[in-house]
Amino acid sequence: MIAPGRRRSFQRRVLAWYAAHGRDLPWRKTRDPYAILVSEILSHQTQIARVIPVYEALLKRYPTAQAMALAPVEAVKAITDPLGYKIRGQWLHGAALQVADRFGGVMPQTLPELRQLPGIGPYTAGAVMSFAHQRDAAVLDTNVARLLRRYFGVTAAASARTHELWSLAAAVIPKGKGYLINQALMDLGAMICRAKAPRCNACPLRRSCDFRRERG
Ligand code: ADE
Repeated sequence: MIAPGRRRSFQRRVLAWYAAHGRDLPWRKTRDPYAILVSEILSHQTQIARVIPVYEALLKRYPTAQAMALAPVEAVKAITDPLGYKIRGQWLHGAALQVADRFGGVMPQTLPELRQLPGIGPYTAGAVMSFAHQRDAAVLDTNVARLLRRYFGVTAAASARTHELWSLAAAVIPKGKGYLINQALMDLGAMICRAKAPRCNACPLRRSCDFRRERG
């Protein structure tokens, strides 16, 4: 459990930082769950600057899941393979096929249904729920996990840690503001609370962060 005062100050600082420093990313201009799915699958383990042109090319060529489902998988892979991590083209095309065939062309709107699509784990399903369907769903990618682990000084053994971090990711969401805080945490984790060279001096959370206190 997080003390309510600490939670509120965390939320306030993170949201204020995001309003000033958040990135202007193309998938933040849409609520289309298919476009969000494309962005999240492409972003996995890949630098955002490299993702943007591929995201735009894919959506131009295949504006809907149905359009992608009608294309051969090789055509999708020709666009996504240059990013590396080549299984993604198959996942995207497989997800588009299922959306077209099993869900009547409409992207699923629940976590369990989203999880049935190929390549969609708890992170991507949470991202679609939060960024497209505007639900207060927890979103835990590696950047957010690192930030929460450091700030809240999570020391649980590896086996229990994931569970604890998902609970924290859910607990820090202010009611009705899941979209904003999740986008904010992703940027703060990627831009400030970096794995190798964290920029603590520029961090809005520096005064109350466990990791920062221990680092001195
Ligand atoms: N990486 C993956 N999804 C992202 C998002 N929505 N914002 C920033 N970085 C991301």
